[in-house]
Amino acid sequence: MSVQETVLVVDDEKVIREGCSRILSPEGFRVLTAVNGQVALEVLDSEATNVILCDLKMPVMGALEVLEEVGQRYPDIPVIIITGHGTVESAVDCMKKGAYDFITKPFRADHVVLVVKRALEKQALERRTRQLQEERARNLYDLATEQSRIRTIVNCMADGVLVTNRDFEVVLFNPALMRLLELKPPSAQAAVLSDLLGDKVLVEALQTLLAKPGNETELISQELQRGRTHLRALSALIYGPDREVLGTITVLHDITSFKELDEMKSNFVHQVSHELRTPLSAIKQQHSVILDGLAGELTAKQRELLTRGQDRIQGLLDMINDLLDVARIESGHGVQQQVVLNLADILRETVALLESKAEERGLSLELELPPELPMVQADARSMEEVFTNLISNGINYTPDGGTVTVSAIPHGEYLEFRVSDSGVGIAPEEIPKIFDKFYRVKHPETRQVIGTGLGLSIVKGIIEAHRGSVEVESKPGVGTTFRVLLPTISGGKLIDYGQE
Ligand SMILES: Nc1ncnc2c1ncn2[C@@H]1O[C@H](COP(=O)(O)OP(=O)(O)OP(=O)(O)O)[C@@H](O)[C@H]1O
Ligand SMILES: [Mg+2]
Repeated sequence: MSVQETVLVVDDEKVIREGCSRILSPEGFRVLTAVNGQVALEVLDSEATNVILCDLKMPVMGALEVLEEVGQRYPDIPVIIITGHGTVESAVDCMKKGAYDFITKPFRADHVVLVVKRALEKQALERRTRQLQEERARNLYDLATEQSRIRTIVNCMADGVLVTNRDFEVVLFNPALMRLLELKPPSAQAAVLSDLLGDKVLVEALQTLLAKPGNETELISQELQRGRTHLRALSALIYGPDREVLGTITVLHDITSFKELDEMKSNFVHQVSHELRTPLSAIKQQHSVILDGLAGELTAKQRELLTRGQDRIQGLLDMINDLLDVARIESGHGVQQQVVLNLADILRETVALLESKAEERGLSLELELPPELPMVQADARSMEEVFTNLISNGINYTPDGGTVTVSAIPHGEYLEFRVSDSGVGIAPEEIPKIFDKFYRVKHPETRQVIGTGLGLSIVKGIIEAHRGSVEVESKPGVGTTFRVLLPTISGGKLIDYGQE
């Protein structure tokens, strides 16, 4: 025994008190004695006691009264009754009143020790059970507090929150969600998501996520529109402690005002670009007249200055045209004239047009085409723009003497175009930004390249409007490959890759 346990022996017979003491002390117990119930209660008041051995009948306060008092004041101290032969029935009464056990006189030493030890074990077990119960109650309380806190936070959020389980039953939502999606709170306890939303886009995104659990940080971001309200929906899977999928969460953010501002900005840029293009074209026209000698002879110096000015004006016009393209694509009017096309012709023309530019720089520009290309449904002018931008980039960002290779490879239901160069490459951290409007990588070797940083954003806009995708792979110092995937036409139908 690590801590000495105390046994209180209550008996009016001295021989019993001393007998018990002799039996229990060598077993490591501290033994206290009392001559009757009253004295016993006084001892209990001052001494921490673990077990009571109590004679059934005593002149002053017998075992029944002791049991009652102990039961009230020290409920977790087990009481063992000592009885004579003829009084077993009374001892059983005592058991009913809460005594732990009884021993009959005359008793054997090992029996007393056994009963006391069992009482102590029971006491320890009861104590442990009580502790666990208290702990459980505390944990439940903490959990309830936490739940209530989270619920309050979620309810106060301006963003809509929607949580489902794996069976797409809605398990949590907040008032903002109801307001943003103009929904009525579901009447059923566990409403099915598709019934609640009636919005396929969101449900499909969640199904996609659930079908292919990826890493815990995987998010699907998409824009939804409800009337005039534009929403950004971010969805993710919820994982349990063992990485099992528990369900989904979606947070909806109202981006209507941002969209309106964006539209205002686009309109503004569009108008200003338009206003600038006309006078600039006129200036360029007049310069050309002068340069052509129609307004009199020019000196070499005048010609040089005018030519330089002419180049600058052309640069400005290119930028304005790019800005107008961006605005057109963003408004969705850019790629409306989609017809069945063989892109091989457009590729050949574009490469031919850019050949001289490549030659000037001592670059080899190669086109690799298979004998036949599947047809695509696309806007010819937009496609020309895509190839021009990608090939120009290849030429611009490849040091003199390098190679730019353009190729087309059919891949069953889609067509892949590649523009590869042996150029300066793009650092991995720059790759996510190069498709942003006006973004240009600062690279010492390409500082002289003139550009506005709009080319790739135009490419991306056009390709996405054709339900295709653009990817880039690059190794700094080695080269870059842009891959464009476009759906092909099969049996006169446009293959729908968005739904794959
Ligand atoms: N093939 C490439 N190799 C290396 N860097 C490239 C390549 N293509 C694009 N980049 C980088 O991405 C940036 C963005 O390209 P983007 O075509 O959008 O704009 P730009 O070429 O700078 O200007 P412009 O609007 O005239 O095309 C470039 O400034 C360049 O730093
Ligand atoms: Mg460019």
